[in-house]
Amino acid sequence: MKISILSALALSLTLTLMACTEKADTTAKAPEGDAAAGKVIAERDCKACHGLDGKGIAPAIPNLAAQRAHYLYNSLKEYKNGQRSHAALKNMATKLSEADLRNVAAYFASLPPISNTAADVKHSSPYEQGKAAAAACAQCHGEDGNSKTAGTPSLAGQQPHYLVAAIQEYHQGDRAKGAMSSLRETDKLELESLALYFAAQKPVKREAPGFGDPVAGEPTTALCGGCHGAKGVSVDGATPSLAGQDAEYLVKAIKSYRTTRKNWGMQRYVAGLSDKDIDNVAAYYATQEPKAADQLPTSTQELAAKCDRCHDQPASPTMAAPKMRGQDKDYLVMSLRAYRDGKRDSSTMHTMSFPYSNAIIESLASWYASQPGK
Ligand code: HEC
Ligand code: HEC
Ligand code: HEC
Ligand code: HEC
Repeated sequence: MKISILSALALSLTLTLMACTEKADTTAKAPEGDAAAGKVIAERDCKACHGLDGKGIAPAIPNLAAQRAHYLYNSLKEYKNGQRSHAALKNMATKLSEADLRNVAAYFASLPPISNTAADVKHSSPYEQGKAAAAACAQCHGEDGNSKTAGTPSLAGQQPHYLVAAIQEYHQGDRAKGAMSSLRETDKLELESLALYFAAQKPVKREAPGFGDPVAGEPTTALCGGCHGAKGVSVDGATPSLAGQDAEYLVKAIKSYRTTRKNWGMQRYVAGLSDKDIDNVAAYYATQEPKAADQLPTSTQELAAKCDRCHDQPASPTMAAPKMRGQDKDYLVMSLRAYRDGKRDSSTMHTMSFPYSNAIIESLASWYASQPGK
């Protein structure tokens, strides 16, 4: 299995995490609890949802077995004081004394870890999903997204945010659909997976087209490089690379900003170009050396290694990061989205929220959930 992906969507995240590893929560203190006394409380108040064995009885209920005691204790305090919101847990935690909280935390922490079975959860790699979905595009966009049909764009190496936005524009009717009308509605997750897959494909260099003069086109591109990158290799996830793109498609795309495609910046920059200028610019970009957007091969595992610097430390009284291996997948997805969307507060976790796409959250969550608990 080829695992080479997470691309630009994850890159900024990875960097953020490396920078913030030092700022872990240092306030937590390991509670000394009485597990036997905690079991009585668990039996009375928690069993219905978390099981007496600490395995959540339904999707999105977290497993508590073998979780660090101080993390469990901290979480209960956070429900109690409203830092984490959940009505039922707030009520329960409020009724429990300080000693009860320590004891019930000690009980769940003392249980053997949960491992989800392969039937419970399968790791879904966005790369593999994208590859499967991309089979429907190959007849027009070429194997691996290198189009050999004049007028049809290559997708190989394209910037992932741009690719998602472009497909949404066809769906929403912001672009004339043409050949793309065969495109069925795709959900955001599938779109992102497609984008991650194509971003990682190697774009091939093209021959000069039968029209236009690349040398005459070059000076005009001085207007374009600030956004589209040097020689048309974009380094911005939302701006398309033009290097190595099909020349006929480039001409059609530029002209479409005069009519159907709406983009304030682009409309302004191409408004002054004559048809001849456009042919020349297209010939210039088509013949430049293309480069894939995803220059840093990163797998889910590599990304998880960054998370593990906090989450997979040996139990320590100064680190309140919970264990995640064997955790319920839906619960992990839910909590990561909650940090990203500002619905769950954590000084440590919120720094990583912005660049998170649903596809990456899904892949990290399913990876952790599919690992044996420890
Ligand atoms: C009605 C079902 C229900 C009951 C009963 C219940 N919980 Fe929970 N518990 C949940 C759900 C759902 C969540 C996830 C809430 C969220 O999104 O923050 C949760 C979350 C937690 C968490 C946070 C886990 C983590 O990984 O962050 C802890 C700790 C916890 N519960 C402990 C307990 C304890 C101790 C009891 C008994 C005193 C209890 N719960 C009773 C449903 C329940
Ligand atoms: C029947 C042929 C056909 C199929 C099948 C097809 N496309 Fe296209 N696609 C085209 C053509 C032609 C265009 C150029 C349309 C235009 O001028 O806007 C295009 C444009 C695009 C663009 C815009 C590219 C850019 O640089 O702006 C994206 C993205 C895209 N297709 C993605 C896909 C994906 C993903 C699939 C498969 C799920 C797919 N297409 C299937 C023919 C096809
Ligand atoms: C202010 C930034 C900016 C400048 C300057 C700019 N572009 Fe763009 N360009 C964009 C963005 C953003 C898009 C994607 C817009 C969309 O979704 O339609 C785009 C789209 C395009 C496309 C469509 C690509 C595709 O795959 O469909 C072409 C072709 C293009 N630009 C050519 C040019 C040329 C030629 C110039 C210079 C004359 C230029 N652009 C200047 C930002 C810019
Ligand atoms: C710098 C340390 C650090 C790094 C790096 C880190 N985390 Fe966390 N994480 C924490 C802390 C501390 C908490 C507990 C915050 C709270 O109480 O809400 C946490 C909580 C979580 C939770 C909630 C789990 C639960 O049981 O409720 C999830 C999910 C999570 N992190 C996922 C990740 C992922 C995925 C990564 C890597 C992409 C990551 N974290 C990287 C420190 C870190």
